[in-house]
Amino acid sequence: MLEKLEKQAQSCTKCPLCATRTNTVFFDGSSNAKIMLIGEAPGADEDALGKPFVGRAGKLLNEFLKMADIDRQKDLYITNTIKCRPPKNRKPEPAEKAACEHFLKEQIKAINPKVIILCGATAAESFFDKKFQITKIRGEIFDNVKGYEGIKFVPILHPSYLLRKHSQDEGSPRDLTLKDLKMIKKTALL
Ligand code: URA
Repeated sequence: MLEKLEKQAQSCTKCPLCATRTNTVFFDGSSNAKIMLIGEAPGADEDALGKPFVGRAGKLLNEFLKMADIDRQKDLYITNTIKCRPPKNRKPEPAEKAACEHFLKEQIKAINPKVIILCGATAAESFFDKKFQITKIRGEIFDNVKGYEGIKFVPILHPSYLLRKHSQDEGSPRDLTLKDLKMIKKTALL
């Protein structure tokens, strides 16, 4: 079913991003994973390779996953809110997210993860209506997201943000992100 969905995404023309994409970026990791990670959108490296989180932010994400003892290929199913790269790496437009939403919904339904990591504010905005500050809600467990009962959602800081924050001191964004990932691993009972 996911293979069929990925093929549909590859030929999708529902929004203008299809005209500028090199590859659709559907997923990486395992479809048996207990944890799903949803990022913002593919960047240039992801567009070139057809896999999410393979550029600078992805390499930093990999380092954090390793430190939290989460296996990217076995424990995670990684995707983004949209499957095609927005030009100049701008944020996805609401219309682009809306056109692509059914793919994400079907992915969640098929994977049925215990925990969904919302990586950054753009991913969190796809599931929470209210205005929020990602720095305030990161690390919280939300288990009442409408339409996704039984799944725990945990927002975390985006690795692109962490690329600009180097401190690893107690309470720093990097320190908090590592703690969030360790908590997520426990929550998913890996
Ligand atoms: N940033 C994202 O949000 N997703 C990717 O796939 C790469 C970078």
